[in-house]
Amino acid sequence: MCGIVGYIGKKNSKCLLMEGLKRLEYRGYDSSGIAMLNDGHIICCKAVGKISNLESKLQNADFDSNIGIAHTRWATHGEPNEVNAHPHTDSKNQVAVVHNGIIENYAELKKDLQKKGCVFKSATDSEVLAHLIAMFIDEGCGLEEAVRRTMEQIEGTYGMAVICVKYPNKMVAARNGSPLIVGLGDDEFIVASDASAVVEHTRQIIYLNDHELITLNSQDYIIKTIQDIHVHKSVDNIDWDLGKIEKAGYPHFMLKEIFEQPESIHNAMRGRFDDEECTAHLGGLQKVKDRLRKTKRIIISACGTSWHSALIGEYLFEDLAQIPTEVEYASEFRYRNPIIYEDDTVLLITQSGETADTLAALREAKRKGALTLAICNVVGSTIARESDAGVYLHAGPEIGVASTKAFTSQLTVLSLAALMLGRMHNMSPVQGERIITALRNLPFQIEQIFKADKIIKEIAERFTYAQNFLYLGRGYNFPAALEGALKLKEISYIHAEGYPAAEMKHGPIALINESMPVVFIATQDAIYDKVISNIEEVKARKGYVIAIATEGDEKISQKADKVIYIPDTLPFLVPILSVIPLQLLAYYIAILKGCNVDQPRNLAKSVTVE
Ligand code: F6R
Repeated sequence: MCGIVGYIGKKNSKCLLMEGLKRLEYRGYDSSGIAMLNDGHIICCKAVGKISNLESKLQNADFDSNIGIAHTRWATHGEPNEVNAHPHTDSKNQVAVVHNGIIENYAELKKDLQKKGCVFKSATDSEVLAHLIAMFIDEGCGLEEAVRRTMEQIEGTYGMAVICVKYPNKMVAARNGSPLIVGLGDDEFIVASDASAVVEHTRQIIYLNDHELITLNSQDYIIKTIQDIHVHKSVDNIDWDLGKIEKAGYPHFMLKEIFEQPESIHNAMRGRFDDEECTAHLGGLQKVKDRLRKTKRIIISACGTSWHSALIGEYLFEDLAQIPTEVEYASEFRYRNPIIYEDDTVLLITQSGETADTLAALREAKRKGALTLAICNVVGSTIARESDAGVYLHAGPEIGVASTKAFTSQLTVLSLAALMLGRMHNMSPVQGERIITALRNLPFQIEQIFKADKIIKEIAERFTYAQNFLYLGRGYNFPAALEGALKLKEISYIHAEGYPAAEMKHGPIALINESMPVVFIATQDAIYDKVISNIEEVKARKGYVIAIATEGDEKISQKADKVIYIPDTLPFLVPILSVIPLQLLAYYIAILKGCNVDQPRNLAKSVTVE
């Protein structure tokens, strides 16, 4: 949510900052801007809409410097226009700031600053940062001290980068609650919201923690806490390359990421089977294994697609490991004073590892003494670092705003965790072995589903302009139905709802008529016959039924209008397969409607504000 990038070094930075912004565009894309120190002045350029608009504006401008900051915005305070776009400057144009986060006490601060004569230009919360820093500089502070004092004044979250005309060889960056990393190059540094803006130039990075600030010149850096205490930090190495964040010939990241799933699922399992013991070996959980063995209850907390994974996790942990499990929206959990015992395990599921609500849920669980675990994709992210232990997805960067490969990798890791917990309790080795075999088969089965592309495209063509969709499933397929509906609504803007199939008759059935497409996930499991009855109920009301069914199921083709077959697997692994055609259906409909699937309106990849 908002991307920031800053450069200080020997090179001209315009191209580097613009490239960085493009890589961060998935974090927010309603406006963007860039500011540089040039000949004792701050020069600034902003544009509404995509970064390409800013690029066009800059094309013929005499605009470059070896120190600059840039920003791509996802609006929180103030509509997306040029004035509200970052960077923001103070009244005298001495200081420029880019900010990701929310300054909660900005209204009071703004009032005070206005009384002191500051003239505000924008409706944003972020502008107070520029005025506060400039005020402290006017009072005689150096840039670092001015930023530190500003941090003392503000409440809320921030990742920020600051430049000032008085300090042409200095940049200060600070963080609290919003991610910030620093890439270390040869006599140059790049500050960014995430590693994608840096990886082209260096693999050496430093993660800033909350309440830390870094002061950079082109040769050196110093990190301090808000209390002015020096901090020594280790340098981490990024273990993925540029190829992972490029489209590799696909028209969209989303399609590339859908087609990457055989590989990403394989990567989530790689080296994690113990064939001798018929269990999973999750290295990241080793150090907490004893505590985990004794856990009386698991609470899973997450948002959005990751919350759908959590629902499947609940079924898995209760089904395979017999551990009572609850699922909570992180945004609710953090504010409702939940009862958490010390022998509880609180599991956070998050692709980005930066979602503000999930992070707050983690901190609340920690405060109450529970064991905290994370299933996370982004290595080194805040949630990965702050939880007691965890498991990485190894899915590689997910750039498409709609989550696809992270979802199936989360389900894979949850299945491994349930297998491990099950084997710790009362699951037989034979069942463990059966699960391992089925998991190993998944990547090949997904390849087979890709062959059903044609029928999915046909369905997409027929329903491109549908107003509504219903997605229904039962058991493990209910969360998959929710996920199918979310994918469709977020990228094609068609209203879609997911329901447990049997709940349909308690209300949604009223919506069914001949123009209502209803997607049933109706695979052959213990409640297959019940789902068939639900299909009959829809057909009796002239609804159009699209069924996701198990290969070889002849019966369903007489009931449904269209059938997409998926290979057979164990019931709790079905969502990993059934969601694939649903992702593709959403993708093809959105493309036919001309929607921007990688950057759907109003959304951002990593929701770092609450
Ligand atoms: C939907 C989607 C979002 C995220 C949610 C949580 O396609 O991507 O619903 O799943 O914002 O994000 P993470 O998993 O990064 O915590």
